[in-house]
Amino acid sequence: MSETVLAAAALSKGFRSGEDTVRVIDRLSFTLSAGQSMAVIGRSGSGKSTLLNLLCGLETADAGDITVADQNFEVKQGVASPAATCQWALLRKRTIGVVFQEANLMPAMTLLENVQLRASLAGHRAGGEMHWLEQLGVGAEAHRFPDQVSGGQRQRAALAMVFAMHPEITLADEPTGSLDRQTAEEVADRLFEVQRQTGCALVMATHDQALASRCDHCLDLGEGG
Ligand SMILES: Nc1ncnc2c1ncn2[C@@H]1O[C@H](COP(=O)(O)OP(=O)(O)OP(=O)(O)O)[C@@H](O)[C@H]1O
Ligand SMILES: [Mg+2]
Repeated sequence: MSETVLAAAALSKGFRSGEDTVRVIDRLSFTLSAGQSMAVIGRSGSGKSTLLNLLCGLETADAGDITVADQNFEVKQGVASPAATCQWALLRKRTIGVVFQEANLMPAMTLLENVQLRASLAGHRAGGEMHWLEQLGVGAEAHRFPDQVSGGQRQRAALAMVFAMHPEITLADEPTGSLDRQTAEEVADRLFEVQRQTGCALVMATHDQALASRCDHCLDLGEGG
């Protein structure tokens, strides 16, 4: 049995809505082993992005446990301690790569410079960044700025940035959500290929059933809270 790199136990998160609190994530538990992939599916508003934000510490759960690599975060009163906030920041720097729904690249830097920046922030020496752009099929666009390439190409550059940091875990929020079917399939092919090569675990929120069925596991949040 391979080692667990990401796990949640009885994880809960709600948001205030007027007088009430709507529970979006309700005592959710799962484990994910090194190198495995998991799709997070469910209706719009079911909590997919919220879950990804919890798993990288950008949101704090109300209750439950998250284990990332060998670090455990137990939430008591829905408030992250200063020590936990620092631990999460370090994990996002080196261990967890996050690809948001809208590729967030630095606009004044070329695609290659964006990848170089991400790799150096994660503590890697300059060198292999071009490889990741080529792997994701945007090597020819490396010296262009984000506003000089298409949305799909930006999305691939964002994935290249994450893989250049050699993360143990990649969280991708609808990485193909804004792409046409053919481009989405190409990006997905590249994504799974690079994931296989690097051996990182992948958690992907998606509305795309075909994409979800390519993952090792599927977590269905259903209708949500
Ligand atoms: N910061 C917030 N404050 C209050 N409510 C929030 C907040 N973030 C999310 N929500 C609510 O939590 C629910 C889940 O939102 P979330 O973005 O996780 O859904 P989703 O499954 O990612 O949806 P989509 O498929 O549309 O991206 C929604 O009802 C949303 O309005
Ligand atoms: Mg979402």
